[in-house]
Amino acid sequence: MFEATVNHEVWESLYSRGHRLDYPSDMFVRVTYRLLDVRRHPRVLDYGFGSGENLMHLCRRGFSMTGVEVSHSALAVTSERLYSAGLDADLHICMDGKLPFKDASFDAITAWQVLCYNDDAGFRKALAELHRVLRPGGLFIAAITAPGDSRQDGAEVLGQGVFRIGCQGQEGAVLRVLEERELSSYFDCSECEIGSFSHEFLGICSRHWIVHYEK
Ligand SMILES: C[S@@+](CC[C@H](N)C(=O)[O-])C[C@H]1O[C@@H](n2cnc3c(N)ncnc32)[C@H](O)[C@@H]1O
Repeated sequence: MFEATVNHEVWESLYSRGHRLDYPSDMFVRVTYRLLDVRRHPRVLDYGFGSGENLMHLCRRGFSMTGVEVSHSALAVTSERLYSAGLDADLHICMDGKLPFKDASFDAITAWQVLCYNDDAGFRKALAELHRVLRPGGLFIAAITAPGDSRQDGAEVLGQGVFRIGCQGQEGAVLRVLEERELSSYFDCSECEIGSFSHEFLGICSRHWIVHYEK
């Protein structure tokens, strides 16, 4: 068990010190091109938008974007980037896990490398809230850290599958790394597909599960 709030301070510190990603995740671009259609999924929620590069990518594709964060600095950075690029999105801070949206508000949700920073209870609570705000027939897409990712290198092992990160600018954040069997236990797998991607480049090994389901 760990409180997700330990991570909130790490994220706030990171973005307030100028952490930015300059371009969207290549896998985010590929997965969302395959799965999201602006006519069927006009309203998209990006859960944990960080410095905004994935959210801005979907804005440019014509989706009406809403974003949720726990870091005020991330919101400030992303607002500024949106303004500079002449783009618009509805950004919110949500610290208590209760999303400030009515049921069925979104046609699709992306949660890219966010849910793995929760303990079991936080993970379940976040999934339930995301499911609530997704409309029937809407699409949920998440990337979740898989075993072997470089963020486990040099990390302090806090418990089974739980690590305190010591590298990649996320020092101090607590990460939960799920085996596929554990991950699938959170979803109704009759409706859900779990795939994976990994790549090794410049000494960094990136490994993630990609989960998607239609509500
Ligand atoms: C590894 S970063 C990923 C950022 C972005 N999705 C990306 O792929 O570049 C994790 C982000 O999730 C945010 N976050 C963590 N817990 C959250 C929560 N409960 N609700 C919303 N955002 C959260 C953090 O502030 C951080 O910006």
